[in-house]
Amino acid sequence: MKTDIETIQRLVLEAAETARKETASEPEPEKSRKAKWPLTCTVGPGLEGAIACESKVGYVNGAKGWLVYRGYNIFELCAYSSFEEVSFLLLHGKMPKAVELDLFKRKLFNYARINKVIMQLMGFPIDQMSVMGALRLGANLMRSQYRNLDKANARPAPFDAISADEDSIAMETLPSGSERATFEFRSSVRRAAAKPKRGFDKASGLEDSCHLIAGISCIAAAVSRIHNGLLPLEPRPDLSFAGNLIYLITGRQPTPVQERVMDIALILHADHGMNASTFATMVVASTLADIYFSVGAGIAALSGPLHGGANEEVLRSLREIGSVEKVKPWIERKLAEKGKVSGFGHRVYKAYDPRARILGPLAGLLIKEKPELKPLYAVAQKLEETVLNTFGKEKKIFPNVDFYSGLIYSFLGFDDELFTPMFAASRVAGWTARVLEYMENNRIFRPRGLYIGEFNKRYVPLKLRA
Ligand code: SDX
Repeated sequence: MKTDIETIQRLVLEAAETARKETASEPEPEKSRKAKWPLTCTVGPGLEGAIACESKVGYVNGAKGWLVYRGYNIFELCAYSSFEEVSFLLLHGKMPKAVELDLFKRKLFNYARINKVIMQLMGFPIDQMSVMGALRLGANLMRSQYRNLDKANARPAPFDAISADEDSIAMETLPSGSERATFEFRSSVRRAAAKPKRGFDKASGLEDSCHLIAGISCIAAAVSRIHNGLLPLEPRPDLSFAGNLIYLITGRQPTPVQERVMDIALILHADHGMNASTFATMVVASTLADIYFSVGAGIAALSGPLHGGANEEVLRSLREIGSVEKVKPWIERKLAEKGKVSGFGHRVYKAYDPRARILGPLAGLLIKEKPELKPLYAVAQKLEETVLNTFGKEKKIFPNVDFYSGLIYSFLGFDDELFTPMFAASRVAGWTARVLEYMENNRIFRPRGLYIGEFNKRYVPLKLRA
């Protein structure tokens, strides 16, 4: 009898085989070579077609429906890897050895305990903020909190630390010993006066990246609990990154299936080429603003409904449609209004988004644990079928990553407002990996705008203007 985890692995590998068969007629892309700048590109509005930089972090092929992280295809990573391993891969460019992975997991766990940031955050009116808004604020609080504290030359010596009453920040979990206490530091921390060298020095960039990968998901979970009138929780050392994320949000121990599905969802969202939020992150970093400000820009860009915010829109649409019988008239009305069906279409994918190929069947698996959501899932399946049969196949508009991700997070017990923050909790790995890579050979982004205005106009004083 196959375990549920083996079933998940089989679903992923079956999706890989379906993808291979359905795109077999597409020509194999030629392997990219090192660019000889300057390059000639055909560029459309919104920099469509423009090549902004070279990268070894990730590759997307829209015709073949390929998504590759550092040479590994996404199906392989979802079948066999974990979000911790994939984050290490994206940041370091290689798979970790056992001892490296163990150290990396410990580092992420230690950085995930950001009680002081959470306490500061609770001092703001976050009950009136969206989770994405609070995430941006949290990234800035992390910046002030860790940017200096974690620099070797500014880190307080251990004897400086006093163990504050570990209940100094109310947490729902029982106190668990001074090693988990919230340390207040007696001496005010010297702010590292180090001027940023050209780009980041690699070590600090990596440390900051780990802070952000660990912290963003904790802030999202804490804000969600505060929105629900609950206190934040502390991460548990016995849970994986994905398991802790479910626990920090719901307060419940996830089932093995829930934990594995969350892990795969995190892997799938980690990187995706030069998408809007990654580009925004890199543009800010290219000015030598630090990586916390850069990630803040990525969070802002991702919040838009054309980008990461689409997964929330999808659930709204499914609930608005309400039943499979109403799918077709709903689509007709949407198209008549020249509207877009959220969760479909993609600037790059003109084949089925490989991430949706994996998330769809996983949603079907989770539905068994939440039969009350069966009607919503049925509407989603009918919507996919109808979009593909009415205009999708003809216009090459297929489900994208956002189509099923919201359903999956719903099945995991997350509020809608957490769907896009979950995207950010994962994509921060890709954002930081690409910033670190780009800063190796930084060049400030400065594209051109084509001026189509007038010239030689003469100034007319205000009193003479009609
Ligand atoms: C993400 O870049 C990335 O990699 C992003 C992302 C990542 O991992 O970072 O993959 C994550 O952002 C996924 C996309 C999530 N957004 C949505 O689901 C919102 C709905 N999708 C559309 O807004 C649209 O498909 C975009 C924005 C995703 C892509 O838009 P493009 O490439 O600019 O395409 P377009 O708007 O120029 O549309 C081309 C044609 C148009 O028809 P015509 O005017 O030529 O007749 O396709 C139509 C569009 O109307 N079309 C759609 C549609 N998407 C495109 N029609 C209806 N519903 C849709 N969803």
